[in-house]
Amino acid sequence: WLIAVAAVAAAYAIGSLTSAVVVSRALGLPDPRYAGSKNPGATNVLRLGGKLPAALTLIADVLKGTLPVAVAMLWLSGWPLMAVAAAPFLGHLFPLYSGLRNGGKGVATGLGVYIALAPPVAGSLVATWLAVAALTRYSSLSALAAAVSVPLWSAFWYPGSTPLLGLGVVLAVLLVYRHKDNIARLLRGEESRIGDKSKTA
Ligand code: G3P
Repeated sequence: WLIAVAAVAAAYAIGSLTSAVVVSRALGLPDPRYAGSKNPGATNVLRLGGKLPAALTLIADVLKGTLPVAVAMLWLSGWPLMAVAAAPFLGHLFPLYSGLRNGGKGVATGLGVYIALAPPVAGSLVATWLAVAALTRYSSLSALAAAVSVPLWSAFWYPGSTPLLGLGVVLAVLLVYRHKDNIARLLRGEESRIGDKSKTA
């Protein structure tokens, strides 16, 4: 249990590092927490700074999920491992270093968690995201579709794994909740599409 608690704390601290802010600051781009959609994530960095900074943000946010979970898997399994898996995601949404505010929406970090924890689920999530993105060019709608599909893919690839299903439901609910502004924009027909140069949203 001591290992589990230490691993949760370390994973949460790692998840709290907001890659979009670090990358944007290093490259002299606008702070993504206060420009564009005001979300510190790869989609908004793409909007504000282009492909390379967005790719760096995406990779760093994915690794924040993958690395702590991969290490924890050496010692933990079951519900304690699920707690460690939720931690970098929660750190990304509610960063320790900025008073739990101005976090991201958890798409890349959530994917990173599944890359370590359940690779077939991760592959299915990428396929889901890409399919919706190819059809609609909405990053948020693609993420929402992938989020809703997490429990389904978990049950499909790991039937009977209650901890994995539990984790999937918790992450999906949080991810959808964090997209509430995107959902409102989608319903109003005002959401920007991937490749649009709009600086407003
Ligand atoms: O990963 C976040 C994405 O789904 C939406 O980002 O910047 O359009 O709110 P954004």
